Amino acid sequence: MPQRPYVIDQMISAKSIAARIEELSHVLQDEFNGTNKLVVVGLLRGSFVFIADLVRELDLPIEVDFLEASSYGDGMESSREVRILKDLRGAIENRDVLVVEDIVDTGHTLNHVTKMLLTRNPARLKSVALLDKPSRREVDFRADYVGFDIPDEFVVGYGIDFAQRNRNLPYIGKVRFT
Ligand code: IMP
Ligand code: MG
Repeated sequence: MPQRPYVIDQMISAKSIAARIEELSHVLQDEFNGTNKLVVVGLLRGSFVFIADLVRELDLPIEVDFLEASSYGDGMESSREVRILKDLRGAIENRDVLVVEDIVDTGHTLNHVTKMLLTRNPARLKSVALLDKPSRREVDFRADYVGFDIPDEFVVGYGIDFAQRNRNLPYIGKVRFT
């Protein structure tokens, strides 16, 4: 499907993202202080840049694993029905787990994923999302830690895509059709 032309207006600079991740890492460091192993679970694909920056700020014994849930496809609307396309490689029973997501929108994805992971009896499970659009919520879900609350705008960059494009932007920008 051909894309309507659009421009990207910067919303959160690379510098602000880095500063916020440093703050979050202090809080997470306290949260998981003393853990003998923290499994950091990135939700593919949007979280790949965030997880890379976040784990390098954490001075904890961590493992990294990934999970892929079905998402938007190439559109701008949430699918609501969440399916697991790629499951974790490792077991999380009795483990401390941190789920890392790029953005919480309707809430369906993280709500479904955290519930599913809780059935595997982790010792502790927390979630962190870089971005949150609270005004778009359709289910009662809030990540334990959030980088930035943002308004109802379609955003790209820092791992986040529009029809698979723009993931490599170092900042978060909003899509504006021209
Ligand atoms: P939710 O299930 O509606 O909360 O959607 C979460 C997923 O939708 C995120 O992991 C993103 O992949 C995608 N998403 C939500 N908002 C945006 C956006 O503004 N830009 C790009 N992807 C988004
Ligand atoms: Mg996603």
